[in-house]
Amino acid sequence: MLSAFWCHLLPAIKLYLLGLKVLLLQLLNGPLRLPVMPRQDGNVAIVTGGGRGIGYEVARHLVRLGAHVIIGGRDEQEGLAAVRRICEHYKEAKVEFKKLDLASLQSVRQFAQSFRERDLPLNILVNNAGVMLVPEGRTEDGFEQHFGVNYLGHFLLTWLLLDTLKDSGKSGHVSRVVNVSSSAHCIGQIRLNDLNSRQSYSSHAAYCQSKLAQVLFSFHLHQEMQSGGFQVSSCAVDPGMVDTALYRHLWTPLHLAQSVIARLLFRTPEEGATTVLSAALLPALEGDCGGGYWANGCREMTTPLTFDPQLQVSLWEISLQLLNLH
Ligand SMILES: NC(=O)c1ccc[n+]([C@@H]2O[C@H](COP(=O)([O-])OP(=O)(O)OC[C@H]3O[C@@H](n4cnc5c(N)ncnc54)[C@H](OP(=O)(O)O)[C@@H]3O)[C@@H](O)[C@H]2O)c1
Repeated sequence: MLSAFWCHLLPAIKLYLLGLKVLLLQLLNGPLRLPVMPRQDGNVAIVTGGGRGIGYEVARHLVRLGAHVIIGGRDEQEGLAAVRRICEHYKEAKVEFKKLDLASLQSVRQFAQSFRERDLPLNILVNNAGVMLVPEGRTEDGFEQHFGVNYLGHFLLTWLLLDTLKDSGKSGHVSRVVNVSSSAHCIGQIRLNDLNSRQSYSSHAAYCQSKLAQVLFSFHLHQEMQSGGFQVSSCAVDPGMVDTALYRHLWTPLHLAQSVIARLLFRTPEEGATTVLSAALLPALEGDCGGGYWANGCREMTTPLTFDPQLQVSLWEISLQLLNLH
């Protein structure tokens, strides 16, 4: 009874209380507006999960600014429909859909390889796709779904595209990796000895762990790039509470209540895209000013755990081992 409380109920209570706090703060902050952003003509961007929700709006704005955008997603119909919608809006749109299932390492490898074969630059990589509160399940390679899709799939994708990102970055125009995390990382715990939640499964804890892992990865990658002298920066972003399909796995009565509240009080996907786009595009973030954690349209401080160098390195090393990248 007590262990069920610790394992299942407590992470859920913590996440819902955090959600309430974030929602209140974002209502106090008022609506977010996208600042004027520089043109992106000649730049290439990849947006994972760009078929709908926040990712779609990120992709649409990047196209509007002149970037060549590749939407990576697992649902071909949704991805192609997104491409059509964007092309209807912008006559000169350079946007395409490529199949990418982050729950399959083979699919990630194929996506990265076919991208590299095209010899295109890569200026912006937005690791946006994600799942939340999905029932216990495994990816094709046996990883817990949240850990595998939100974190490990993106780790591999970034790793495989890192040389292209390095080659594409120039002084005054660094390549940027933007990891779409969540405020949920604040209550996440990294269980290095049970990253795949085999000992006990809570979908709430698993989501928070995956989002914390994304922040740790993001900070460590940024440091690695800075210390190696590469023109690549990496940051983590919380888009806020946004009215999207991400919440569809909530317990049905909660989902019904959430969808009513979301329509009234959550950010729209376009508002949700604002902080992601700021982190990806703001010219003031060049050189040493890149990286960090972004929320509510600007850089914010986050929890001390995310800066723990030991934890960052341990997670990085384990991830390399899990992906056979050594
Ligand atoms: N909405 C919020 O309030 C909120 C708050 C904090 C953080 N976030 C983060 O924002 C990001 C975007 O979420 P959203 O709110 O826009 O949710 P969404 O509308 O559900 O979009 C998620 C996207 O990820 C894709 N995806 C899921 N599993 C995938 C896989 N295995 N391979 C490739 N693509 C996959 C989905 O495509 P299919 O499922 O159709 O394949 C979809 O396009 C997520 O990382 C989420 O954690 C959202």
